[in-house]
Amino acid sequence: MEINYQETTKDLLTRIDIHQKFGGRDIDQWMLDLLQPAQGSKILDVGCGAGKQCFLYHKVTGGTARITGGDVSAELLEKARAENAKLGDPVEFIELDFNQPFPKGDNEFDLESCCFAIYYAADIPATIREMHRVLRSPDPESGKPGGRLFTSGPMPENKKLFYDIIADATGKPIPPMPGSSRYSTQIYDAMKATFSKVEVHIFENPLTFSTVEPFAAYTRASLSEDRKLWTSLFATHEDFERVMAQITDVAAEWLHRDGKLVMTKVVGGFIATK
Ligand SMILES: C[S@@+](CC[C@H](N)C(=O)[O-])C[C@H]1O[C@@H](n2cnc3c(N)ncnc32)[C@H](O)[C@@H]1O
Repeated sequence: MEINYQETTKDLLTRIDIHQKFGGRDIDQWMLDLLQPAQGSKILDVGCGAGKQCFLYHKVTGGTARITGGDVSAELLEKARAENAKLGDPVEFIELDFNQPFPKGDNEFDLESCCFAIYYAADIPATIREMHRVLRSPDPESGKPGGRLFTSGPMPENKKLFYDIIADATGKPIPPMPGSSRYSTQIYDAMKATFSKVEVHIFENPLTFSTVEPFAAYTRASLSEDRKLWTSLFATHEDFERVMAQITDVAAEWLHRDGKLVMTKVVGGFIATK
């Protein structure tokens, strides 16, 4: 399945910022607690965007890990490289399209991650097999287990309030989202089929809004005209603005009624061992 998907730097960074400002919990700390990246390890982050996870690994390993981030978006890679330069270029950022063979050898990495990206893959089992290939194999002699793949993505109950408000405002069904419709099913199944074991972890983060503006900004950055996921709700720029106005009005009504808007992110973290 070909997924017509584009992320703009501005939209991605807006959503990250709103998660950080209005969320009660820290998803980065959750991921680091689960993974505990080892000093000196070799790490690949696939779909690295502006480099968020790469810079976390760099910091938490005290600069000892050898980290590569790969993404298909030239715009996001440029952003990542600009940030990297400020730190003295500790991370290698490469062009990597996860719909193609990865430009890396077999058995190279101790840890690999793919955060909020894998569900945009055209052929999920093929992408998961590439992820498996580049991870270090287990060593039967020393008993050292194989490398680990961490993926994260939305579970089906993710952001219920967001979808409920959009459905109420537009009177139209929510189109299937590649993330929540594929992550806990096709991606989990492909990881189980390819790896020796897979652990499931769940992260819940309520985002609490006491005014409508940040919710509207989040919605704008999610629906974004460029993302092509919501074409059943709007086609032209004028349609997009009309839909945004309807959503903002309904969100304001719900806020007035309930005193606040609570949108809970429900995220899965699957850890697979080669
Ligand atoms: C929601 S962003 C997540 C970025 C980053 N992991 C984070 O958590 O901030 C999804 C990322 O997947 C990337 N992506 C989409 N299709 C891709 C592909 N075919 N190959 C590699 N990356 C892709 C996008 O460019 C974007 O950076």
